[in-house]
Amino acid sequence: MLLFDIAARHAKKTSSNPAQSLNTATHNGFLLSFEGSEGCGKSTQIRLLAEHLKAAGQAVEVMREPGGTAIGEEVRHLLQHAKAGHVMTHEAELLLFAASRAQLVREKVRPLLEAGVLVILDRFLDSTTVYQGMARGLPLASVQAINAFAVGGTLPHLTVLLDLETDTAWQRIHATGRELDRMESQPREFFEKVRQGYLELARAEPGRIAVVDAGRAPELIHAEILKLVETRRHAF
Ligand SMILES: Nc1ncnc2c1ncn2[C@@H]1O[C@H](COP(=O)(O)OP(=O)(O)OP(=O)(O)O)[C@@H](O)[C@H]1O
Ligand SMILES: [Mg+2]
Repeated sequence: MLLFDIAARHAKKTSSNPAQSLNTATHNGFLLSFEGSEGCGKSTQIRLLAEHLKAAGQAVEVMREPGGTAIGEEVRHLLQHAKAGHVMTHEAELLLFAASRAQLVREKVRPLLEAGVLVILDRFLDSTTVYQGMARGLPLASVQAINAFAVGGTLPHLTVLLDLETDTAWQRIHATGRELDRMESQPREFFEKVRQGYLELARAEPGRIAVVDAGRAPELIHAEILKLVETRRHAF
């Protein structure tokens, strides 16, 4: 099953407009997304990678989802910490994530890619496919259509999936001692569904999604990611 068939069709349809089709040769930027369940080490690895690339003189921007724009940060608050979030339906959750993403892509990501920047996203559309589609159980076709509408053909050149055994991720989150947000407070089974969902997605799109074993020391993971990024960037 090709999970991004709708997005791919959309990208083709809009390819005559360079502003809407950034995965063509119209720009030199590179879009890299990090995915994986809570506590798998996304923020840690993004920090290591961004530091390394910046030290090497490269233009790098890091943004997080939901968030990354003023509108997106308000949406983030609603999704993660607002009292109102306790009665949020799965459908509303899906659309809020999509709203934040639609804003981020147009306000920030596309202009940065046009300027040749390497854009690193801490979560992107795959999070929605996995969390709202596969784990929450919303119809996958609707999730894909909304995702495709939100990103309008702006897809990652490379997605790093940090894969971690669910119990290890669980321990890492709880070891931090901080208060858990709405998503982090889900039962263990939910995180197992998330992990398996991501792996299924990676099997469906091996050309874009690279699975990286996140159960190792941070420096080893960092070295592997660096190699992946360098190899893929040269392909564009
Ligand atoms: N390779 C690693 N080995 C052991 N601990 C790690 C590793 N990478 C990160 N950690 C620790 O695990 C915790 C979660 O890491 P991090 O915040 O990077 O994950 P995350 O994927 O960004 O989580 P979230 O989805 O909640 O944002 C942190 O306390 C971090 O220091
Ligand atoms: Mg993080």
